Parts: sequence; C-alpha cells; structure tokens
Amino acid sequence: MSPSTTPPTGLPVWLPGVETLCYGGDYNPEQWPEEVWARDVALMREAGVTLVSVGIFSWGLLEPREGEFDFGWLDRVLDLLHEAGIQVDLGTPTASPPAWFFHAHPDARVVTRDGTTLGFGSRGMASPSSPDYRRASVRITRELARRYGSHPAVVLWHVHNEYGTPVSECYSEHSARAFRAWVQRRYGSLDALNEAWGTAFWGQHYAEWAHVSPPSIAPSVVNPAQRLDFARFTSDALLECFVAERDVIHAEAPGIPVTTNFMAGSCQSVDLWAWAREVDIVSNDHYLTAADDRNQVGLALSADLTRSLAGGRPWLLMEHSTSAVNWQPRNVAKRPGEMARNSLAHLGRGADGILFFQWRASRSGAEKFHSAMLPHAGTRSRVWTEVCALGHDLAALTEVRGSTVHADVAILWDWQSFWAQDLEWRPSVDLGHRERIDAFYDRLWRDKLTVDFAHPEHDLSGYRLVVAPASYLLTSQGAANLTRYVEAGGTLLVSCFSATVDENDAVPEGGYLAPLRTALGVEVDELLPLRQGDQVHLAASGPVARALDAITADVWCEDLALAGATPVAVFADGPAAGGPAVTRHEHGAGTGWYVSTRLDVDALAALLAPVYADAGLSPVVDLPQDLEIVTRHGTTHSYVVAINHTDEAADVPLTGTDLLTGETSTSSFTLAAGAVRVVRSA
Ligand code: GLA
Repeated sequence: MSPSTTPPTGLPVWLPGVETLCYGGDYNPEQWPEEVWARDVALMREAGVTLVSVGIFSWGLLEPREGEFDFGWLDRVLDLLHEAGIQVDLGTPTASPPAWFFHAHPDARVVTRDGTTLGFGSRGMASPSSPDYRRASVRITRELARRYGSHPAVVLWHVHNEYGTPVSECYSEHSARAFRAWVQRRYGSLDALNEAWGTAFWGQHYAEWAHVSPPSIAPSVVNPAQRLDFARFTSDALLECFVAERDVIHAEAPGIPVTTNFMAGSCQSVDLWAWAREVDIVSNDHYLTAADDRNQVGLALSADLTRSLAGGRPWLLMEHSTSAVNWQPRNVAKRPGEMARNSLAHLGRGADGILFFQWRASRSGAEKFHSAMLPHAGTRSRVWTEVCALGHDLAALTEVRGSTVHADVAILWDWQSFWAQDLEWRPSVDLGHRERIDAFYDRLWRDKLTVDFAHPEHDLSGYRLVVAPASYLLTSQGAANLTRYVEAGGTLLVSCFSATVDENDAVPEGGYLAPLRTALGVEVDELLPLRQGDQVHLAASGPVARALDAITADVWCEDLALAGATPVAVFADGPAAGGPAVTRHEHGAGTGWYVSTRLDVDALAALLAPVYADAGLSPVVDLPQDLEIVTRHGTTHSYVVAINHTDEAADVPLTGTDLLTGETSTSSFTLAAGAVRVVRSA
C-alpha cells in the first residue's frame, strides 16, 4: 500500500512543531506532591523525554463536583513542562468518570450480558449510550479544549483511553434503546430485519420494533446474526463517543491533531478500520505476552497492523512497558536490552514515537507492580539507565522519522469476521481465527517478508501476495474484490473455513466457499473437523508442492469438489482420505491457492514455497529465522532495522552506516546476540 500524504481529516500528517522522534510516556503528576514535579521534569530532560501524556485519569480532580472545575494544578504542570521544552499529549479523562457522576446517574453504569450492573472504584467506561455520560464527557472535554487549545505545550489530544476495554458491550436500558434505533437505521423495515437475522428460525419473527432487544443471555444460543449486529452496534456506539469529543476539540483547538490509543491486535471489540478513519493520528498500545517466549512476533504483528490502520503513515506507540506489567498471570520482567529491542522493533515498523506506560511508578493503587521509566528503585536502577540510553539512541535516529515501510504481502484482517467466528456452535473449538493468522504471520516473519494487514474490501492491487488465513465472514463485495485481484494477476492464498458466511452470518447460496469459487476453482462439500489430538497426513500430487509430501496436519479437513483447480496435495488418510487437501487454480492473470486443513508454522514453509514462487517473492532463507529485518524508506536513504533475537552473534549482509554506533560497512554487520542495528543505506 502506498502511504497517503494526508490523513482523512485533512490535518497535517504529524504533530505540529515536532521535529524529533517522540519519546516519553503517561505522566500522572496528580499522584505526587507538587514538589516532586520539578524533579520529574529535570529527570525527563536527563532521559531525553520529548512528549508526555497528561490528564488521562484526572476527571475527579479536574471537576471535583458537577460543573465545578479546578484547572490550577494542570495549568502549573503544563507550564512547567513547557518551560522545560517537553511537549504534551493532553488527555480527556472520560475513561474514568468521577464518583459524583455515578452517584447522580446510577443508570449510566454498564450492565453486562448476564444483567450485572458494574460498580465504581475501578475505571472503565460508563454506558456509551447514556445521554448523561455523553453530555458530561463532552462538557469536560470542551472545558479542557477551551482552556488549553492554544497552550504552547499541547501538540496532540488524547481522547479517553483504550476504547473497548475493560468493558465494551453494555446491556443497560440506554443501550437497549440505542440498539433498537441502530437496528432501525440499518434495516429500515422489519421485513429487512427479519430477513437479515433469519428470524424464521426458532420462531424469532418480530412484528414491532419495540420488541427488538440486545442479545442478553437466553435459555440457549442466541441468534448469531443478532449478536453480530450487537457487536457492530457496540463498536459504533463507542466510536460516537470518540467523535463527539473529537469534534469539540477540533472546534475549540483547531490545528491540533486528535488521537485515541488503540490496542491493535489485542482488544477485539472495536472495528479499528472504521475508527482509523476518524483519528488524525493513529496511536497504539502494545504489551508483550510474557508467557510467549517468541513474543517479538506478536509485537511485530501489532506494529504492522497499526501501520496498516494508519494507511502507511507514521504512527505513535502510545504505550508499552519498560519491564514487567502487572496484569498477566506471571509478570515476567524484561531482561537487559529487551526494552530497546522492543522499542526499535516498533520503530522499524513505522512508529515515529516511542512512549511508555508510565513515567513514574505509582506507589498506590492497582498498578503499583507495573514497571515505569522511573521505577520505585529510582535512578540507581538498571531500567533507568536503559531508559536514558534509549532516549539517547532515539535522538541519534531523528532522520528516520517520516520514512515509510513497504510490504509486498497483505494478510486479511476483519474484526467483524472475528466477532462472527467467535460465537457459539461452530464446527470445532480447535480452529481459532487468531491462531491461523498468527501462524501465517509467523511464517512470513521468519521468512523476512514484510506484511501489511488489509480488509477484504480494500484496494489490494499493490500486493504480490494476499493471504486469507481466517476470512470466515466474507461479504459478496469482499469476494468480488479478491476475485478481481486474482484476475488482475495477484496471488491469493485462502485457508480453510473461509467465505463460510455472509455479513448476516448466513451460509451463502451455493454453500461454503461459493463466493470464491471463481478465484479458487474449488468448492467445499462438507466440513470435517477432527477429534482432539488427531492428525492427518498429506501426499503431494505432482511436482508443484513436492515438499508437502508426508506433511502432518491437524484440527480440520474438508471434502473438496474441484471446479477447475489442480490438486497439489491430497489427504493420505483421515476422513477426507484421497481427496484434495491443497489446490492451485490459474484464473485470469493470477493464481488462487486453497488449503483445507490446519498446518503449523513449520508445515506452512512447505506450502508457502510454491506460493512465493507464483507471487515472485523471495524469502530470506540464509539467515537465522529469529533475526528480524525490516526496512524504512526515506526520500534520500533507506534504514534497515536488524534485530538479533537469537542467543548467538550473526552476520547480516548490509552496507551503510549504523546510526546507533557510527560504524560503517561495505559488506556486512555483525549483530551480537540481542543486539539491534539501524543501518542507513550508503
Ligand atoms: C493500559 C492502560 C494504562 C495502564 C496499562 C498497564 O494500556 O491504558 O492506563 O493501565 O495498560 O499495562
């Protein structure tokens, strides 16, 4: 995808007046006596901090009683930061309404699917559909924007915090009313609603709009189309809250971009393709999964997804951790060098700013065991030393800002499909969309092929290869787009259980996979999930994919009917024994591949080799798999970020100058175990 030059809202591509890579984190001075603030700011300068996020959870202090505002402390904080040359990403505090709000409006509390009303004393969204919440959140936002709209420290607005978590769906009376209105807008008539939801099934037919309600817990499985629409409604309702605040900021503080921190790749309850169209700058929070000993791959996926949401433009890593988090079952601390590796991996995949949660570790509250830039142990700590070193390194990398990442491969990603696939009563609990995406992504990561993520209806013409690891829900527009992509010369690889339902979670006419029949030349007669632990074997049929011979697969098989495709591997055993397992179909100027079983990341190497050949792609096979290499392209130079995630030194053929050390080479650079190089092309 070629990066577009202007964001959808027409504001500048980046933060006004910011000419470095951004570095910093969430700053919560309200948790500390005022005499600490000056010390904080001095230490920020020492660490090379340039940008801090302020005020994200401060509503109770900024508006201690309804309509009574106290901005004195925030005035002093912003002035202090500005005097020190530190810029501010100013938060609106609407992720955590104050006690008075819930006392006055108990009906604005979130109600869960089982009818539980959530209490106060934590944080989290009020019911997004509560008119009182909407009014109060817009009012505090307007007050802030009026007061600080032209404050010279403020270069970015940060609305709310991580929409969609810790709660997303709300089943309150306000939500029920808003859902009914949403459904009415979407369908226009009860006939259309009954048709889309398939209400002839189990006698659900509606004759009155007033009878339509959210899909609360019921005696058995609730209509999946209704649940899917409720997930869509939830994402839209939260987005309306964001847009209401954003519009107030745009009006009161013109020219300053507005963001909200996404959780691309971890929070599944908001459709970020729709959200990305509404923010001026895409920002993202990413936390490593401590239990995963190759969590650098998940990090890369999140960064690639964020860059794709940004349309290829630079983005901001709004939060990650300097070391351990506090909310996983085992909060493993980062080891020396790991924080820098993580940070530069995000940078390599397009981030122009690296921020943390948070500046100074909190002494009280639920997050006191969370790491920070300034840990409880203070400036004598290893973490502090590494934080200062990273600030220094980012300053040395200033010229990288604005450069972009190019990908030849797109993986399809559609939150609406995930919502549908995650519902109950699917053919097998063992086939997960995320597991399939992770496996295909990991294969491409190991092969050092940079990946964008795309929606099935996006323009895919710039990619050599499009992979659909989990497109369970595929609209007819999406299927037509993929078919056109193949016709025009693209290589498409589709994995099992795709194009199984349409946007209403209904099986398409012609059966599973029918919408992709033209592109793939194959149909699915029956889904054949395997018993837990069972395996099947493949046998290559012909020379195209010889390496698939004797490969083991599990979880899933399908009975395929060929409709023009050539089988390149068949099932040697199992319920589909003798039938095609992997097919290849030349259509128009391109090729459509289909794999009807689950292959793990090693087995995927055998599948992908001939697919790469069709796409004209060259994987890097002569370097260690866990050596990460990604390139950013600037106007005059390219910058290769190489990260050695292995335990041994490795030589990487690269020419140019390492911006971190100043070393130059005309042949190769050695990367010690755990080391990072950022090499500017000669
Ligand atoms: C999230 C939140 C932060 C903080 C961190 C802790 O990302 O946005 O406020 O709670 O998690 O990891």
